[in-house]
Amino acid sequence: MSIGEPLSRIDGPIKVTGGARYTADLRAPNMLHGAFVTATIPAGKVLAIDHSDALAEPGVVRVLTHEDMFPPKTTVAGPPFAHSFLPLQGDEIRHEGQPIALALGETLEAAEAGARRVRVRYAPTTVQPPAALIWSELDRAAVAPKNSGYFFFEPEFTKGKADQNLAGARNRIEAVYSQPSRHHNPMEPSAVLAQWRGDALTIYASTQHVYAVQTGLAALFGIPPERVRVISQHTGGAFGVKGLIWPQEALAAIAAKIVERPVRIVLSRANMYSFLGYQPRIVQKMGLGADEKGTLAVVTHDVVNLTSVTDDFIEFATEASKSLYATPSMQLRQRAERAHVAMPTAMRAPVEGPGLWALESAMDELAVDLGVDPLNLRLANYADADPATGAPWSSKKLREAYDQGARLFGWRERPRAPWRDGDWIIGHGMASCLMGTFRFPSHARVTLRRDGTAVIETGTQDIGTGTLTIFPQIAAGVLGLPSSSIELKMGDSKLPEAGPTYGSSSTTGVGAAVLAAAQDVRGQLARLANLSPGEATLADGRIGRAGTTEGFPIADVMNEAGEREIVGSGSFDPTQHGAGYSMRTFGAIFVEVGVDPELGLLRLRRVVGSYSVGRIINPRTARAQLVGGIIWGWGMAAMEQSAFDASLGRFLSKNLAGVTIPVNADIPTDITVHFVDEIDEKASPIGGKGVGELGATGVAAAVANAVFHATGKRIRDLPITPEKLVA
Ligand code: MOS
Repeated sequence: MSIGEPLSRIDGPIKVTGGARYTADLRAPNMLHGAFVTATIPAGKVLAIDHSDALAEPGVVRVLTHEDMFPPKTTVAGPPFAHSFLPLQGDEIRHEGQPIALALGETLEAAEAGARRVRVRYAPTTVQPPAALIWSELDRAAVAPKNSGYFFFEPEFTKGKADQNLAGARNRIEAVYSQPSRHHNPMEPSAVLAQWRGDALTIYASTQHVYAVQTGLAALFGIPPERVRVISQHTGGAFGVKGLIWPQEALAAIAAKIVERPVRIVLSRANMYSFLGYQPRIVQKMGLGADEKGTLAVVTHDVVNLTSVTDDFIEFATEASKSLYATPSMQLRQRAERAHVAMPTAMRAPVEGPGLWALESAMDELAVDLGVDPLNLRLANYADADPATGAPWSSKKLREAYDQGARLFGWRERPRAPWRDGDWIIGHGMASCLMGTFRFPSHARVTLRRDGTAVIETGTQDIGTGTLTIFPQIAAGVLGLPSSSIELKMGDSKLPEAGPTYGSSSTTGVGAAVLAAAQDVRGQLARLANLSPGEATLADGRIGRAGTTEGFPIADVMNEAGEREIVGSGSFDPTQHGAGYSMRTFGAIFVEVGVDPELGLLRLRRVVGSYSVGRIINPRTARAQLVGGIIWGWGMAAMEQSAFDASLGRFLSKNLAGVTIPVNADIPTDITVHFVDEIDEKASPIGGKGVGELGATGVAAAVANAVFHATGKRIRDLPITPEKLVA
């Protein structure tokens, strides 16, 4: 199976039979288990920690506090660390749930029992809580962010006379849209196993980036990166919360060094809600000004997001407004609202995901005001070049995506008025989809053996997105082998370095490196067979001239040359591709919802997502990614929120009970995913861009727009829960 074929998941059987080994499945001889004691107050100091009762528990070996931990060799500042302080280095408490002690036991049960019996005395200080959800309050609380390494775009951007244009616009929308903090909730909680041999450290971790863990921990211990090996065979979902180094990874390694035994820490769900990242609350003030036909004169976008007191994480929602529509003027601003909360982080479909909630809701409001079809309003403001920079797109087939998606949905033929189906009022809505294109340098090695099998080696990670299937598929096409003859070795910092598995970047970067490595093998083999590399093709174990049926058995060619195997290497270097072009993925989403106004119920009935993402490597896994994204977006629209209790200074949830996310009964069977026929070889030699996160964008706005169509209620505060819908 080669590029473009719907190969089913190679890793399916091991994933559903328990054959796949995750970090929490691993044991090392003489290993200790760690369990955290976390702060119960949001701000203050640790006065004293009494661990005498804890040590009396059978099986408890040590309780480590800030008094036991040695300081890092370098300051922990910025990525790859998730925040710029290391817990257990001092007595200060910056948020509820911060680790303040680590109980180590011979069993997990002993460690947990020990952690429960640690007694802590605190000196609370004044808490800085999140502001009330009122724009004027947030506007007062918000500060210009300082870049401590956690933002990747400019916090302010202006073009043209935005102020003047908004004030003078004949048609104007000014509205505030908000969304609550949300946690990632991957199926596998974060886990780490740290083991020292002399001054060499081996870390098994559930991570999206083994090299980040390697470089970060090497710096922390002042040892060369070669002395740190990071292994991640499988990561059980991540959604962004495993992209950086969180406290457990550093603290497990420090603890293992102190006690001179391997230490494994598997976070509890409570830990995941206590000191790991989440998507912060984001409040966005949008302004649109347009003429009678809806042609935009101005877009303004003012964003405030929650962050910790130590670092400014910025959720760059304004990037949506910067990239989607042609407009002569724009004014974009990002600010931070600091509070005693855990540090937020990127969560699936960050940046444009939240941004489109505001922008695409406001566009719908403008369309309604003007009496223009929402789709026509988007087409009237189509950006043929990057609206912020004027640069050409590497590829963009959003017009086709709108058109083909509208046809599949029946958008043009839809009833203009909402209609009734029993107790349900049926409405329709649409929105544009948009996502950044992230590209990271990556390397791969492909070894072809004389027996017709091959191995791919690349230090990428499996987070469950299908990469275990598509990388063999890419190599298979070039080598003329079945995918099942190709083994993939990954998830190890000893392998050729590959980029992180986030930003929907793996296929573009790692896929291109695998392609290049396989092509290198083919080229070497061609030379052995006295063919020019450009004209050789491999199929069914033979190498021959493209377009002819003759050829030589590969095994014979290798035999004659005395080669047992041929090793090819390949790289992807983003600086060598697409310079001067702006890159995004695009799409359109059309939804049909039902609202029961008496009970406040909201149902998603039918979805069409139509996407412009470049070449599709595997239509089956790509579709699965986008369906997953759409469902994620539906959760954002109607269910997800991590409620924060200001009096306790913490998120209320400490486990999955009461956490609403879409389950099977909430998900319509009628979800159509369509790809526009497109190849983008400027973005990557693979011809594709990212698919992972795009599907989650635009959904919340499309749903809210459909709710407005059905009920006349404009909901600007997510999620759209029943109390907002009851008459
Ligand atoms: Mo994602 S936030 O790119 O893991």
